[in-house]
Amino acid sequence: MSTFNDRFLKACRREETDRPPVWMMRQAGRYQKGYRAIREKYSIVDICKIPEVCTEVTLLPIEQFGFDAAIVFSDIMIPLEPMGISFEYKPGVGPIIHNPIRSKSDVEALTDLDLGSDLQYTATALGNLKASLNVPCLGFVGAPFTLASYMIEGGPSKSHILLKSFMYGETEAWHLLMKKLAHNMAEYLLLQVESGAAAVQIFDSWIGMLSQEDYQEYVFPHMFDMVQYLKGKTNVPIVLFGTNTAHLLQDFKRTGADVIGIDWKTDLAKAWEAMDYEVAVQGNLDPTSLFAPWEVIERKAKRLLDSIPNQAGYIFNLGHGILPKTPEEHVKQLVKLVQEE
Ligand code: CP3
Repeated sequence: MSTFNDRFLKACRREETDRPPVWMMRQAGRYQKGYRAIREKYSIVDICKIPEVCTEVTLLPIEQFGFDAAIVFSDIMIPLEPMGISFEYKPGVGPIIHNPIRSKSDVEALTDLDLGSDLQYTATALGNLKASLNVPCLGFVGAPFTLASYMIEGGPSKSHILLKSFMYGETEAWHLLMKKLAHNMAEYLLLQVESGAAAVQIFDSWIGMLSQEDYQEYVFPHMFDMVQYLKGKTNVPIVLFGTNTAHLLQDFKRTGADVIGIDWKTDLAKAWEAMDYEVAVQGNLDPTSLFAPWEVIERKAKRLLDSIPNQAGYIFNLGHGILPKTPEEHVKQLVKLVQEE
C-alpha cells in the first residue's frame, strides 16, 4: 500500500500542505457511469446497507479522480429509520416521509438509536474503507435542523412553513426534537469515528432558511452542544457545512467546529478573513459551473485559488453537492488543476 495521504487532515488542523487538498461533496453519485451501473442492480438504500456495495461505491470517485478524501456512502435520512421515521426516495425529488412529525407526542415517540445493533452496516463499511484507502474517509450526519426540515415538512420544502409553524408554535417540542437529534447524531458520528472515519462532516443544507436571530434562538444552542460533546469524546476534525449561510458563519465558528464549509454564493476569501483565519475553510466553486465549457471552469477555479490568502487551512471543494449529469471529464480536469497548483 502506498503511503497515507494526510493532506486533507493537515488542512483541517490548519497545518501547512504542499497544495490544497481536494474532494467534492456527494462525489459518489449519478453523474458517474460506474455509479449508475451499480444503481441498476441496487437501490440507494441497498447501497447504504450492504457494506461491500457501500465500500465499492465510496471507492469509485477515489479511483476515478484521485481525491484527497473519501466520504462514506450513505444518506442523511438513513439513521432516522431506526429512530422510527419511515421514508422513501422519490427519484428527482428527494426523501418523502410517511409519518411526519406534527406534535409533541410525535417527538416523544422517536426512539434513541441503539448503536450496539443499529447502523452496523455503515460501521462495517468504514472498517473496510480504512483497510483499503490511502486517504482519510469522512463520516457524516445531517444536522438537527436539516433533518427536522424533512421530518416536519414530510419532504423537500421551499417555504418551510410547517417547520417554522412548529418551531414558533410548539417551541418546547421543537427544542426536544433538536435535542434528541443532536444527541443521536453525535452518538452516530462517534460510532463512525470508532469504526474508521478520520474526520466528520455535519450537513446543515437548509439552515440558510433561518434569520440569524432565529438561528441563535432555536438552533445554535443545540449545534454548540453537539460539537462540544463530540470534541469531548474525539479529536477528529469536525466540518460544518450549510448553504445560504453568509449571515450565519460567525455563529458556525462559535460552535467550535474545526472546518467551516462555505457555500458557492459567498466570497470564500472574505468569509475566511471575517472569521480571523481561526478555523479552516472548505469550498466553494458553484456546482453548476461544472456544466460550463472547460475554459470557464478553469478561469473560475483559478480565480478561487488565487483569492486564497497565504494561510494554512484551505480545502478545495464545491460550494454544494455535485449534481447529476455533471460531465465526468470536467471533474477529472478540475481535480488535476488543483493537484497541479
Ligand atoms: O458525498 C457522498 O458521496 C456521500 C453520499 C451522500 C448522499 N446523500 C447520497 C445520495 C451524502 C453526503 C448525502 C447527504 C444528503 N442527503 C444531504 C446533504 C447534502 C446536500 O447535498 O445538501 C441531503 C439534503 C440529502 C437528502 C437527499 N437524499 C436528497 C436531496 C437526495 C436526492 C434526490 C434526487 O433524486 O435528486 C437524496 C438521495 C441521494 N442520496 C442520492 C445520493 C447519491 C441520489 C439517489 C440515487 O442514486 O438515485
